[in-house]
Amino acid sequence: MNMIVTGGCGFIGSNFVRYWLGLHADARVVVYDKLTYAGRRENLRDLWDDARLSLVIGDIGDQALVRRTCQEHSIQLIVNFAAETHVDQSILGPLVFTDTNVRGTHVLLEVARELGLRLHHISTDEVYGHIPDGHQSVETDPLAPRSPYAASKAAADQLVQAYAITYGLPVTITRGANNVGPYQYPEKAVPLFSTNVLLGEPIPVYGDGLQMRDYAHVFDHCAGIEAVLLRGEIGEVYNVGTGREMTNLEMVDIVLNTLGADPGLVRHVTDRPGHDRRYSMNVDKLRSLGWAPQYDPRQAVAEAARWYAANAWWWEPIRSGEFRGYYDRQYADRLSGGPP
Ligand code: NAD
Ligand code: TYD
Repeated sequence: MNMIVTGGCGFIGSNFVRYWLGLHADARVVVYDKLTYAGRRENLRDLWDDARLSLVIGDIGDQALVRRTCQEHSIQLIVNFAAETHVDQSILGPLVFTDTNVRGTHVLLEVARELGLRLHHISTDEVYGHIPDGHQSVETDPLAPRSPYAASKAAADQLVQAYAITYGLPVTITRGANNVGPYQYPEKAVPLFSTNVLLGEPIPVYGDGLQMRDYAHVFDHCAGIEAVLLRGEIGEVYNVGTGREMTNLEMVDIVLNTLGADPGLVRHVTDRPGHDRRYSMNVDKLRSLGWAPQYDPRQAVAEAARWYAANAWWWEPIRSGEFRGYYDRQYADRLSGGPP
């Protein structure tokens, strides 16, 4: 199968490309990526010599380039990972989230419609919004996003579903839980906390740290996407996570214990505005395709922390370079102030 993987130089996209090429000898993959701060060629440095893989640098909002790329490579399937992805960045500068996540996805749908392609869209549990204790989101739940990031992802999901209904476009959607694993940009909590520990810097926990997340290993997410691509029902949505959540303080404990760090590094800082307290998904629908998670969330977080300890070559240039400006903007006041 010839596929274009948008956002394939990012965290989950690069793990997916490695996963897919590893299991499908006859695969052809075109990574189409704008190479924003989160898109890094080195995420696929072991694979660029593989003749089955190529890279096109471009914006998913560039309809002519997306169309030409799909035509030149005889693409049959678009897998859309490309997005602006960090909630805190969406609070600081939200408009680019609409440009890429909403308009960009819309452009991909148009190209899929013009050329008669299947489109698989990568979404998130954040589209369901805050989930009260005792409930687990199922795929038919209403969308109730609460951050600019989540709202842009929910809008994209609805466009994808509208194209299936209006034009009969063959689409599928997966909604992933918080992923952890190799090559995650260190703005996200687990790589941020792991690399802070390794740098001897404090760990900024928002508010009371009792927010709950399902920390799923990126490998399980990739396997879930594969299951949907190969066996999923066209037009359907599938949740992908472990179905088990933990508090951020529990996650921090795992990072500290795994890296043998001092719990005194933890600082409770001013909370994120509109911070969702809990995400939790029911993943039975994906299980019915024969998929099951291989990692429990505790193992997933510990293994991720170990990866950052072993791969300073990857994150040190980011942490000592471009990331600094964002880090100061997001954390300098929080970390220098008194209690939140
Ligand atoms: P990431 O931020 O690590 O990577 C995003 C990639 O998209 C980068 O390679 C970037 O260069 C590229 N990109 C951004 N704007 C683009 C544009 N306009 N045109 C082309 N490429 C562009 O993100 P990630 O964590 O790998 O997330 C991938 C997808 O999975 C996203 O759609 C995200 O919403 C979704 N998701 C992420 C998580 C998570 O925990 N990280 C959980 C569930 C769902
Ligand atoms: P994050 O990785 O940003 O994912 P999301 O907000 O999309 O779930 O954050 C995971 C959790 O960690 C979330 O509850 C916010 C919290 N968090 C902190 O407490 N401090 C931080 O510096 C960051 C980045 C996140």
